[in-house]
Amino acid sequence: MDPLRIDIHPDIRKAETPPSRLYTDPAIHDRQRELVFARTWQYARADLPASGPGIAPFTLLEGALSEPLVLTRDEAGTERILSNVCTHRGALVAQKACAATSLTCAYHGRRFGLDGSFRSAPEFQGAEHFPTHREDLRALALERFGPLRFAALQPRHSLAEHTGDLRERLSHLPFDRLVHDASRDRTFEFAANWALYCDNFLEGLHIPYVHPSLNATIEFESYRTELMRHSSLQIALARPGTAAFTPPPSSPDHGKRVAGYYAWVFPNLMLNFYPWGLSLNLVEPRGVDRTRVRFETWIADRAAFEFMDVGELDRIEFEDEAVVADVQRGMRSRLHVRGRYAPARETAVHHFHRLLVAALA
Ligand code: FES
Ligand SMILES: [Fe+2]
Repeated sequence: MDPLRIDIHPDIRKAETPPSRLYTDPAIHDRQRELVFARTWQYARADLPASGPGIAPFTLLEGALSEPLVLTRDEAGTERILSNVCTHRGALVAQKACAATSLTCAYHGRRFGLDGSFRSAPEFQGAEHFPTHREDLRALALERFGPLRFAALQPRHSLAEHTGDLRERLSHLPFDRLVHDASRDRTFEFAANWALYCDNFLEGLHIPYVHPSLNATIEFESYRTELMRHSSLQIALARPGTAAFTPPPSSPDHGKRVAGYYAWVFPNLMLNFYPWGLSLNLVEPRGVDRTRVRFETWIADRAAFEFMDVGELDRIEFEDEAVVADVQRGMRSRLHVRGRYAPARETAVHHFHRLLVAALA
């Protein structure tokens, strides 16, 4: 029997929550790096020049994968994600985002096209069987969800397959109007395992206890959770007098006042849609008990955004971090055994645990 194996009963009414080792064991954490993060689609944040050919280096899932990559756009407008590791002796090729029509390694001057193809290498006269395709920069799969780019090292399936049901469910949201406001970017770091942060995100059960101010703006009784194949969606309805979506007849939510759609994409991405736009949270595992979360703000309706209390999202974040760090301490207790799920309120947590242990098996 594999000592790292964890079972979660498929029936939430019978299931027990994961044993503490899921959140504390370095061996399980290492296994997640290869079997979870290297095999799933990860949000790829890189800032290319607004138009024309260019390059933008970035790191895929810093702390867990830390994969050096570069996003390129060629003259025809085709975007690619390439390895940013030089095929000569491994230096990082692109150092900063700029307009460029080729890539030149800063170490010994090797050049590549924006499609990653090898162009030239100074002083390689006399090298046998050179160049071969091994001199090219490796290209990764690149896919999009609205304006968001995603890359994957060894994906088990396409991003369309991974998120298709979620996209369909949210098709009435104004993805085409979302504009990233980099001035609102922020990062938060705290002492807890990344999966505890996801667990916390995936249930609204804690809202009345942990977030009194949020609780005052939503209808807790109507809070709903929907499970998709590799994602889930939580929907909160707004109390009268607070900002809300009014979904069109094509949406199953037509006729309701929706305060927010809180989407989660396995394993580590949260897309929170509000009437003003999107708050994107990328969860970066930094160690077995250390996590960083990147927040990005994508605005669809500037006037609605200006009207919002921007301090509120930060306040909720600090409340969540404090409780999650507490749970990490609880996970280290010798007295803690496995818990149980609240069947009506913790379906998305259970779903996440099932996906996670399946990926690790
Ligand atoms: S490492 Fe890039 S040219 Fe030598
Ligand atoms: Fe919360």
